[in-house]
Amino acid sequence: MEKLQNKIREEGVALSDSVLKVDKFLNHQIDPQLMHEMGKEFASKFEKEGITKIVTLESSGIAPAVMTGLILNVPVIFARKKKSLTLTEGLITSKVYSYTKQETNEVSVSNKFLSKEDNVLIIDDFLANGQAALALIDIVEKIEATVAGVGIVIEKAFQDGGAVLRTKGYRVESLARIQSLSDKKIEFVKEKEQ
Ligand code: G4P
Ligand code: NA
Ligand code: NA
Repeated sequence: MEKLQNKIREEGVALSDSVLKVDKFLNHQIDPQLMHEMGKEFASKFEKEGITKIVTLESSGIAPAVMTGLILNVPVIFARKKKSLTLTEGLITSKVYSYTKQETNEVSVSNKFLSKEDNVLIIDDFLANGQAALALIDIVEKIEATVAGVGIVIEKAFQDGGAVLRTKGYRVESLARIQSLSDKKIEFVKEKEQ
């Protein structure tokens, strides 16, 4: 998605060989116009799939997920990282291992909001090692609902999450795919390969 690539070129900062800072429009400050465009893009990629629900992970997945849900006219559920006071019964949980933090955390969704009949689009802001996406997939599949695909805003194609998910047979659509962040330079996977 060209608009997103341009935004990443203009406002993204390669913090290291593996971390891209995009807090000007995605991870802290949010650009609603760009989110809307991304929602339209995800919606058009998955419009023929008969999506009934979108599942994301708080917090940075929520904005692109909501925009997609608005266009596809389906509810958006965000998995929680902390147990809520009011949400205690019927939680479906899965573990997420963070390589960067070297810790395992649980994410959860209430079984009230998903059923076997659901055809789910999973959305997240980043795809690195795929642990978060795998946890969301696990939750959807524990409910015996269907995973129709995974929509990612920024895929770090030099990490293995994309390959892990695609090898398992999931359809992964990323709006921008980063080839490399070496030497503080942001390089995208070439268009033909995207
Ligand atoms: P890992 O697989 O690389 O170890 O990543 P980890 O699960 O530890 O991810 C930690 C957080 O960092 C996640 O957000 C994830 O989306 C995000 N992330 C991973 N790679 C990058 C990157 O290159 N740039 C940025 N900006 N974020 C990245 P989170 O903790 O769930 O936070 P949020 O959703 O509340 O923003
Ligand atoms: Na994040
Ligand atoms: Na995230």
